Amino acid sequence: MKLWGGRFTKETDQLVHAFNESLSFDQKFYRQDIQGSIAHVTMLAEQKIVSREDGEQIVRGLEEILSDIETGKLKILPGAEDIHSFVEEELTKRIGEAGKRLHTGRSRNDQVALDMKLYTRDQVKEMDHLLYGLLQELLTIMEENVETYMPGFTHMQKAQPITLAHHVGAYFEMFTRDRGRLQDLYERMNVCPLGAGALAGTTYPLDRERTASLLDFYGPTLNSIDSVSDRDYLLEFLSAMSIIAMHLSRFCEEVIVWNTDEYRFVELDDAYSTGSSIMPQKKNPDIAELIRGKTGRVYGTLIALLTTMKGLPLAYNKDMQEDKELAFDAMDTVKSCILLFTRMIASMTFCKDRMEDSARHGFTNATDAADYLVKHGVPFRDAHGIVGELVLYCLDKKIALDDMTLEEFKAISPVFEEDVYEAISMKNCVEKRVCMGAPGKEAMSRVMDIYKRQLEERRGL
Ligand code: ARG
Repeated sequence: MKLWGGRFTKETDQLVHAFNESLSFDQKFYRQDIQGSIAHVTMLAEQKIVSREDGEQIVRGLEEILSDIETGKLKILPGAEDIHSFVEEELTKRIGEAGKRLHTGRSRNDQVALDMKLYTRDQVKEMDHLLYGLLQELLTIMEENVETYMPGFTHMQKAQPITLAHHVGAYFEMFTRDRGRLQDLYERMNVCPLGAGALAGTTYPLDRERTASLLDFYGPTLNSIDSVSDRDYLLEFLSAMSIIAMHLSRFCEEVIVWNTDEYRFVELDDAYSTGSSIMPQKKNPDIAELIRGKTGRVYGTLIALLTTMKGLPLAYNKDMQEDKELAFDAMDTVKSCILLFTRMIASMTFCKDRMEDSARHGFTNATDAADYLVKHGVPFRDAHGIVGELVLYCLDKKIALDDMTLEEFKAISPVFEEDVYEAISMKNCVEKRVCMGAPGKEAMSRVMDIYKRQLEERRGL
């Protein structure tokens, strides 16, 4: 059965049906479709647009359909054009005449706008919850590694010593901003398009405040044309998900590098790595690589939908049906990436000795040696030059700065005294960095207290 057969004299070509249909993918929001219809008909009955009896019958019918789909008793088989037609057809099959009154004062344009919004809103909440779980895991790693020294890098060259807690803290910041973006877009999107009709509202006395509140929206949308043609909230979500994917991908890149034999900063759990069919010794970081790889796919959805939307005149155009497969794919992909990533890092071992050993070599304390001279009156630019000479000397002798004798230090600058060893010890290099945001233990614990509070205050949306 079609919802629009009346003015047609021919059957739809089979190829056209296959090309046009959306049931194969929009059945994903059957629950939201039924939820929206229940709110709509409840309001219709309250407004006496349909009779109370019809209203009750329709709600009961819809509830039964929902439960039958959920228990598997009712299968969503191909045939109908979309989930909206499927549900309405099933309803009429079950309750007869009354079912045909459900669509009074509604168009599929505001219906699909509503369904997609309800579905997306649920997804935004789920995504936020997954990020919350990831942040908790990151905080645990931080708490355990306030004194795990490692090299900090710039240009992938060892730069200055930091701690693992500090490094992981950078990701804590990123994923916290991601949650902020979800919250922002949630606030903006949470208005109800139902009642916008095809594009110009309807002549029925709909109570749009009522349906909005039944569906937990802040209120109704204020322009019916925009209501049916707005997909900004999806673009915002795809953009937020692209950034989440980018953050995950950066961390994965580090895990992959850290997991190499050359670094061996981490050891992946057997359950979160895979082997090679030919090389028996291999243990590959496939999960990290896949998460990194899927980032491209997520970006693709954002560009695809932006491109679909860019030339659309107002109001609804069928092009917009293309939003679904893209958005569903991005949502499913990013959710599984966050979950897998969280489990991967939770089960991963940090090889603290290797990290610390790596920080000890590669002159990560060179800046601190220069600062030592500055504290003894040498201008920074001169100090920089002197330490450069020390580094050349050490490179030649294949030793670290700490391995030099005081005589060797003094040969390059007489300013050096016995206390230089203390000043450039790794512990000092890190622990003296106590200004807000720095890796020193004192600063880190202040920051971690803030993070803990943030997590307690914002558990979900
Ligand atoms: N399947 C359609 C979509 O996803 C539903 C809306 C159809 N509306 C219409 N006027 N053809 O956009």
